[in-house]
Amino acid sequence: MLDLIGNTPLVRLNVLTAEIPGSVFVKLDHYNLGGSAKDRIGVNILREALATGRLRSGDRIIETGQGNTSIGLAIAGLLAGHSSRVIAKPDLSRQKLNLLRMLGADVIPGRLDVDKTHPEHAWVIAEQQEQAHENIWWARQQSSPDNPDAHYASTGPEIWYQTAGRVTHFVAAIATGGTVSGTGRFLQEQNSDVQVIGTTVDLPQKPWADAALNKTFHRLPGYETLERDWPDNIDLDVIDQLEARTKEEIIDFAFDLARAEGLLLGPSSALSVKIALELAAHGSPEDVFVVFSADHARDYTSAEYDEAWLRANDLAGVADRHFGSPVAET
Ligand SMILES: Cc1ncc(COP(=O)(O)O)c(C=O)c1O
Repeated sequence: MLDLIGNTPLVRLNVLTAEIPGSVFVKLDHYNLGGSAKDRIGVNILREALATGRLRSGDRIIETGQGNTSIGLAIAGLLAGHSSRVIAKPDLSRQKLNLLRMLGADVIPGRLDVDKTHPEHAWVIAEQQEQAHENIWWARQQSSPDNPDAHYASTGPEIWYQTAGRVTHFVAAIATGGTVSGTGRFLQEQNSDVQVIGTTVDLPQKPWADAALNKTFHRLPGYETLERDWPDNIDLDVIDQLEARTKEEIIDFAFDLARAEGLLLGPSSALSVKIALELAAHGSPEDVFVVFSADHARDYTSAEYDEAWLRANDLAGVADRHFGSPVAET
């Protein structure tokens, strides 16, 4: 089973790149066993926790996040004899929720859209659970070095090998920062000219996203005045550029990407493809962009890619553009 994690395919975009001088490739990590990039870190975090004795026999694993890590950890955990508890954001897609329940994880609610000290924040709940129960172990993907190390050891070398060392730009979405930091570190060690671009949806609770939008990122004036309020695993020394876009722009593009290339990607992956295409349009014929895709559109067909969900979540414009306006049809 564990051999089905990693060594995922790299495909070249052919349609949306027609006017682009260089090439744009996408690494499809939904091919992993549990359906996302997070299987890589689930296995690595678990392996290291067992090796160092932090996770003991009979312990239950607890994790927060967008659901993918919890799926990866739940699979790795159950193969090693550990059960899982997941603190899921209230709007987690039904597909991911049901996969977690299918894997036997017990799911409790916790928010990610509030301040980190808020009593309903998933991290606060995880900490409380860990303190209250001796046999609960929190994997802490946002600060565990085993998260970026998993990408340093697998994603980075795979991309280097698959592009025969010709990769010039690496583009990946940021949540914990593990993907961009670990993969970027490996690629820049092979070739210090490789540009690493982090992408994020523009959310008010991510001050570094605001910094990116306001062009006050760390290599630009004003960075020093920013309060350090981002996950430990975001390695700013590795990231050359940070780009944020609105949810509306991202979902809009995910539909365009699906209909142009037949590529069905989750929103964070579509965002990274969008950024790569924008940057590559101003690049050179030697450019080899590699975009990291964390998961598949199927995980979002009851949420961001569902017409009713879009209309109920102030995104009727996106629904109109891609499904047609209900008024126009009558
Ligand atoms: C769908 C998706 N995309 C991107 C990311 C970002 O990955 P990382 O946590 O390595 O920054 C995550 C992480 O939760 C994710 O679930």
